[in-house]
Amino acid sequence: MSAVVLSVLLLLLVPICLSLDPTTLNDDVLGLIVFKADLQDPEEKLLSWNEDDDTPCRWTGVKCDPKTNRVTELVLDGFGLSGKIGRGLLQLQSLRKVSLSNNNFTGTFHSGIARLGNLRTVDFSNCGLGGEIPDGFFKQCRTLMEVSFANNGFTGSIPESLELGACSTLASLNLSGNQLTGPIPKGLWSLNGLRDLDLSDNRLSGEIPDGMSKLFNIRSLRLKRNAFTGALPDDIGTCLLLKEIDLSGNSISGELPDSMQKLSMCGVLNLGGNSLIGDVPAWVGELGNLKTLDLSGNRFNSTIPDSIRKLKGLENLDLSGNSLTGKFPKWVFKLQALEKLNLSDNNLGGTLELPTSPTNLTIKVLHLSGNTFSGVIPLEIGNFRELRILNLSRNGFFGSIPASIGELKSLEGLDLGHNHLNGTIPSDFGGAISLKQLILEDNFLTGNIPSQIERCPALSSLILSKNKLSGPLLPNIANLTNLQTVDISENNFSGALPMSLSNLAHLVLFNISHNKFSGALPAGNFFNSIPISSLADNPSLCGSIVKVSCPAVLPKPIVLNPNTSSEVSSHENPSSLSSNLHHKKKIILSISAVIAIAAAALIALGVIAVTVLNIQVRSSAATNSAAALALSEGGYYSHSPATESNSGKLVMFSGDDPEFSTGTHAVLNKDCELGRGGFGAVYKTVLQDGRPVAIKKLTVSSLVKSQEDFEREVKKLGKLRHPNVITLEGYYWTPSLQLLIYEFVSGGSLNQHLHDRKSGRLLSWQERFNLILGIARSLTHLHELNIIHYNMKSSNVLIDGSGEAKVGDYGLAKLLPMLDRYVLSSKIQSALGYMAPEFGCRTVKITEKCDVYGFGVLVLEIVTGRRPVEYMEDDVVVLCDLVRGALEEGSVEECVDRRIGGDFPADEAVPVMKLGLICTSQVPSNRPDMAEVVNILELIRSPQDSQEDELP
Ligand SMILES: *[C@@H]1O[C@H](CO)[C@@H](O)[C@H](O)[C@H]1NC(C)=O
Ligand SMILES: *[C@@H]1O[C@H](CO)[C@@H](O)[C@H](O)[C@H]1NC(C)=O
Ligand SMILES: *[C@@H]1O[C@H](CO)[C@@H](O)[C@H](O)[C@H]1NC(C)=O
Ligand SMILES: *[C@@H]1O[C@H](CO)[C@@H](O)[C@H](O)[C@H]1NC(C)=O
Ligand SMILES: *[C@@H]1O[C@H](CO)[C@@H](O)[C@H](O)[C@H]1NC(C)=O
Repeated sequence: MSAVVLSVLLLLLVPICLSLDPTTLNDDVLGLIVFKADLQDPEEKLLSWNEDDDTPCRWTGVKCDPKTNRVTELVLDGFGLSGKIGRGLLQLQSLRKVSLSNNNFTGTFHSGIARLGNLRTVDFSNCGLGGEIPDGFFKQCRTLMEVSFANNGFTGSIPESLELGACSTLASLNLSGNQLTGPIPKGLWSLNGLRDLDLSDNRLSGEIPDGMSKLFNIRSLRLKRNAFTGALPDDIGTCLLLKEIDLSGNSISGELPDSMQKLSMCGVLNLGGNSLIGDVPAWVGELGNLKTLDLSGNRFNSTIPDSIRKLKGLENLDLSGNSLTGKFPKWVFKLQALEKLNLSDNNLGGTLELPTSPTNLTIKVLHLSGNTFSGVIPLEIGNFRELRILNLSRNGFFGSIPASIGELKSLEGLDLGHNHLNGTIPSDFGGAISLKQLILEDNFLTGNIPSQIERCPALSSLILSKNKLSGPLLPNIANLTNLQTVDISENNFSGALPMSLSNLAHLVLFNISHNKFSGALPAGNFFNSIPISSLADNPSLCGSIVKVSCPAVLPKPIVLNPNTSSEVSSHENPSSLSSNLHHKKKIILSISAVIAIAAAALIALGVIAVTVLNIQVRSSAATNSAAALALSEGGYYSHSPATESNSGKLVMFSGDDPEFSTGTHAVLNKDCELGRGGFGAVYKTVLQDGRPVAIKKLTVSSLVKSQEDFEREVKKLGKLRHPNVITLEGYYWTPSLQLLIYEFVSGGSLNQHLHDRKSGRLLSWQERFNLILGIARSLTHLHELNIIHYNMKSSNVLIDGSGEAKVGDYGLAKLLPMLDRYVLSSKIQSALGYMAPEFGCRTVKITEKCDVYGFGVLVLEIVTGRRPVEYMEDDVVVLCDLVRGALEEGSVEECVDRRIGGDFPADEAVPVMKLGLICTSQVPSNRPDMAEVVNILELIRSPQDSQEDELP
């Protein structure tokens, strides 16, 4: 049967049914099916409601009278139903209780429901209804006892019909949480059966009418949060059974009517948030059953009556936000049941006196802020073991914070802000293990934040601004993982911020403004978007957010001697150096020359260093993903084996048999990887004749030029033969894969020997000098053939079995379509620290002098055994600057690698370092040619010979 058919049938039936015997045709089945037809039942709670059943008594939510089988209760609370409450209910003639709360209906309901002669209880709370409450409902409510329309969207006024004549049996009426307007109809006060009336949270207005004496049964009167005005009805005290009065949040004015003192049954009296004036009358002490007395937020201006001490059952006393005067009522602590005391925002004064002997103090909330209390905070505060909230802010307390506060293990919130407290924050705070909020702002506190604060793991709010706190912020602050709000502004904190602060995942505020913090800001999470105002006035703070580059990234400035720098730079130039040397037979590279060169490019240096670092960050991300891609392919040939390996072209310059003994498929086995560089990974493999070779797989494939260009460049490189250059033996070409086949050098890389304590070997001074000379010779040879290396660094210098330097990875930049500086610097990104400054400067042509710069850095690296750039905990050491500084101070010999011991000739080491510095001149033209460098080195090398020359 469809719903429409049913509805039509029902309309027809209604008059007919009246004349039929109710037992022959079950109205209830029909009524409920029609009721259901108006509803949506997404959770299928009403699945058992089957129209073919004879009786609905076994249906979900339905109860029947066992004798008559008529429906007496319909309880569908929280069934997730929506739709309209339809006429079907009107058929349930025996219904006593209908409860449809917590559903999602629309519209209103049919006033005829009240006509059901047995109905006692209607609960339509929180079920989405709206519109006006049908006036007819209360006209017919002869049997109704409990009615709740709470928390719906009802509008309009309270029906005028709601009066004794109709609703004499009504005991409970709840219309709270709607949008009802207008006054309370006077007729309401004639409902003398009423026990509970709740009209809270509406928009009712007007005066609360007089004539309450007829409400002699009322127990609970809740009218809170409306817009009632006028005075309290004088006869409210005639409702002698009242246990709960909540008229808070209105605009009730005038004084408390004296009649109220008769309300001796009253347990809850809440008149907070009105406009009441005059005295808090002494008779409140006669309301002997009071548990809650809330007169907060009015305009009472008397003293606190002593009589309140008689209220032995009082649990909650809130007199805050009035104009009460007098001293602190120290008798409150004799109230054994008291849990919450709020006297904040009054005009109370004097000192805070606490009981000296530990009594049964059950008090959990002590709120005294915004008065004029003064004196010290008594030590006895530690006796309040149950205390959760202690707020003494905005008073005149002075002296120090009693350490006993640390004994309050239940304390969750402590606010001592805006007082005159001095001394330090007690370290015993760590005992307050439940602390969530610590507010000590605007006092005169000194010292640091005690490290014991880390024992307050629940801390979410730390407000210490406007004190005289100092010292660094300790890293263990970052252990307080629940921190959300941190304000330590306007203090004297200094030092660096712990980087671990960025681990605080819940931060919403971190205000450190107006302090003396220095160094870099933590990076990540909240700190990526920290408002600049939270950092203001910390002159030494740096990082991108405050738009100050960190000194950790910039090389340290050199202190210049203005007298020497200008004159020397004009006539000391590298090309005159070697003749100079020949002449003097002793190498004297003037310190001032070095400084002059440094001075010339000092300003550019910072900029370049930053640029290089930035490039490095970007490109390392890029190359990482490229590497990951290559690895995930699992081996190079796997993705298109047949075509590529077949169409590929393998050329060996020596004319040897170009067969790999292990077969092409194993050539690029990851296990045989020797290393990775800017241009690609290097693998070791063995030719058929047993000769090992190193194969470089270019990762810049996509950038490589046409096959013709590639082959021309590679063949040029293949012609190179020099004892200090790794020979290129052949190549393999496909459009998407290029391999370079090099001579295999067994002795490991210079980088490894200098910096890897495990696999490296300690190099003696003689060996180091030899390597420097070898590298210089290799570069001289490359430059003679117009090949720029572009990628000088210690990992590109290998050492062969006889200890000779073998320079590799040369000239590869020429394989790229153009000499793009960005590509260059990103492909050679691992050469950070070796890269000549002109790479970062588009207007300067890149020449072989960039290799001289890299060589200079390499020289210093070999002599000192230190990396070109070293990252310390909070500092970056740039090797050139370090050596230059030591040279200035006359302690350059101390720069020589300590691992050599004292076993080196200073008259070789010092000039070599000076040469290294000259080679790292910022201005390319100030750097010597590699041929000159070789000459100078050979001169340095043979002091004995030169001494012999000098012999007569
Ligand atoms: C009630 O219904 C409205 C619209 O019909 C819907 O937006 C809302 O989410 C529903 N609420 C619940 C608690 O089901
Ligand atoms: C208290 O307030 C009342 C009414 O506003 C005023 O008449 C009275 O003078 C005030 N008393 C004191 C002590 O301020
Ligand atoms: C403290 O409370 C306990 C238990 O509630 C009670 O037995 C004891 O008498 C009380 N002590 C005082 C001094 O009131
Ligand atoms: C703290 O203030 C009190 C009173 O103002 C003063 O007597 C005391 O010397 C001060 N203590 C410190 C450490 O400044
Ligand atoms: C604080 O954090 C550090 C680093 O995460 C950890 O080593 C230390 O044990 C933590 N301290 C406490 C008290 O949890």
